[in-house]
Amino acid sequence: MKEFLVETFAHHRTLIVFLHVISAVIWVGGMIAIRFATHQSLSLISDPKLRLERAAHTLKRLFAIVTPFVIVLIVTAVLMAVGLGFRAAAMDPMGNVIDEYAMSLYNTIHIKEAIWLIMALNLGAMMWRRAKAETALKEGNLEKAKEMLALIAQYMVPVNIVLGITAIFIGVVLRNAY
Ligand code: HEM
Repeated sequence: MKEFLVETFAHHRTLIVFLHVISAVIWVGGMIAIRFATHQSLSLISDPKLRLERAAHTLKRLFAIVTPFVIVLIVTAVLMAVGLGFRAAAMDPMGNVIDEYAMSLYNTIHIKEAIWLIMALNLGAMMWRRAKAETALKEGNLEKAKEMLALIAQYMVPVNIVLGITAIFIGVVLRNAY
């Protein structure tokens, strides 16, 4: 398995890094556009039912667009992490540290993995809340729909934007570290 990943990365390096970067662009850029352009625009709709319906629909479209790229991001991440040999440079097969600097880079990979996991879980939670809001809207329960959507806009999307930008910065650090 490891050899397959190393060989795949060696043969398709440019494509894999490109897919990783474009996935980050679409996921993080999509959230920034929704939060700072669409959200402001939707808030100008005075009819609360229509406003909430448009918000739920916009988020549905965003989540449908970014989900495949979330998967591409982790697949390319694994290919890069193994293909670039971070673990092999840091540890011997017994798990003993052989190079402190390489070990710090390998730990940085773990930080990116943790960031991806938190972002993906947060995305899953947002999808769940959005679906609940849609159901509440169909039942005419505007209060519940508002409660479900408000947290997404106020905290959940901003948290993922900050984490995404952090992951991009760490990516640049990694790229220039070896
Ligand atoms: C799942 C865990 C992740 C791992 C193991 C990982 C690993 C890496 C590695 C090794 C590089 C350097 C590639 C090279 O040297 O050519 C990189 C670059 C990059 N990563 Fe990740 N990454 C992960 C998650 C993420 C996430 C969540 C984002 C953003 C949402 C992201 C955005 C980027 C970007 C934009 C670059 C390009 C930086 C540059 O070209 O200077 N990564 N990543």
